[in-house]
Amino acid sequence: MASLTDSRSAELYARALARMPGGVNSPVRAMRAIGRDPLFVDRGEGAELIDVDGNRFVDYVCSWGPLILGHAHPAVIEAVQAAAARGTSFGAPTAGEVDLAEAVCGRFASVEMLRMTSSGTEASMTALRLARAATGREKIVKFAGAYHGHVDGLLAQAGSGLATAALPASPGVTAAAAGDTVVVPWNDEQALREAVAAASPAAILAEPMPANMGLVPARAGFLELMREEASGSGALLILDEVISGFRVAGGGAQELTGVAADITIMGKVIGGGLPAAALGGPAELMRMLAPAGEVYQAGTLSGNPLAVAAGLATLALLDETAYLRLAGYTERLAGGLREAAAGAGVPVQVQSAPGLLTVFFSEQPVQSFEQAKACDLEAHAAWCRELLGRGVYPPPSQFEAWFPSLAHGEDQLERTLAAAEAAFVAIADQGAA
Ligand SMILES: Cc1ncc(COP(=O)(O)O)c(C=O)c1O
Repeated sequence: MASLTDSRSAELYARALARMPGGVNSPVRAMRAIGRDPLFVDRGEGAELIDVDGNRFVDYVCSWGPLILGHAHPAVIEAVQAAAARGTSFGAPTAGEVDLAEAVCGRFASVEMLRMTSSGTEASMTALRLARAATGREKIVKFAGAYHGHVDGLLAQAGSGLATAALPASPGVTAAAAGDTVVVPWNDEQALREAVAAASPAAILAEPMPANMGLVPARAGFLELMREEASGSGALLILDEVISGFRVAGGGAQELTGVAADITIMGKVIGGGLPAAALGGPAELMRMLAPAGEVYQAGTLSGNPLAVAAGLATLALLDETAYLRLAGYTERLAGGLREAAAGAGVPVQVQSAPGLLTVFFSEQPVQSFEQAKACDLEAHAAWCRELLGRGVYPPPSQFEAWFPSLAHGEDQLERTLAAAEAAFVAIADQGAA
């Protein structure tokens, strides 16, 4: 790999730092948490990423989740090209939007109607507005370590980039916005009951398969308790399936767990690598949105024809066999990573779900944000740097999940596990773990 100081990536980063805050357009791309500079990408091919210096990596970021088919999948490229040739945006309805709404409703049992947005953040923001309008209440109960986009009121104790930068909240959020949010520790039943009783919230908002503090699944019964508490208190249950939707199963975590949301937030895979997200729910509730109802929400590029085409082409390939294959790859990857760490004597917990995993540098299973924050972040950072030096591109933060894709096959699995084993040995030798 080209040296960090004498490469096209380094040159671009220097220029980027002068013109873009931190040199990037989204914080975790900067790789600060793992103590190195970012790589600038030239192109993606299937499961692999090629940087501007010609280095090739097995990619486990895959654009942070949308690329479940891998990079530049021919069916997606063809659909986008065909859509682009007919015009890139109209500000008027298209057939593709109806097809995508029907495809999503066919997969999510709790969703009868859909409103599309351009980002998960917008979908979260609208879900909160809708829940507040429907209940006439203001407070929102959410969980520590979850991330629902950069919505003002949802940044307290958020996961993902805020956790990576060790920010408990963001400056610039008004006291009023922060004051409407009640944060509960993940997997803490008592705290959830107490918070709901005290706040009478408009909504309980959760990632049903939280992946923004690393992957920390719900303990048995926790999602069911959320459903009970929401229904019992007159609150809505908003499940944010921006990561889990169309990934852990066609119908998301709701299909796997049987716990249904009142409002579902979707993103990432639904746009197949182009900017698209959505919120959905029962028709009666969704009809509160303008122009059917009075809850205002809009977007110049919402339901953009290119994004819709990429989303439809992606969903069309996600059949039962595809999900079995992705789950199989994830399981073998998780097993191989556990063995590699054990062989090098490095204590880790590999937590996985179909299509998602996190290697926590911890001696104990991680079940909360506090436990995730207590991981050996230095050892994790050192391991990630070693992986990058060996042709594997992991999410450069302990507070994220790996996103294998359907383009990952035997060759990538072998290369990943060989690199991971060598990286574990290297950090054990350096005394970093
Ligand atoms: C669970 C979850 N919700 C919402 C978002 C926000 O989506 P976007 O980045 O498209 O605004 C993310 C982004 O990573 C996410 O992981």
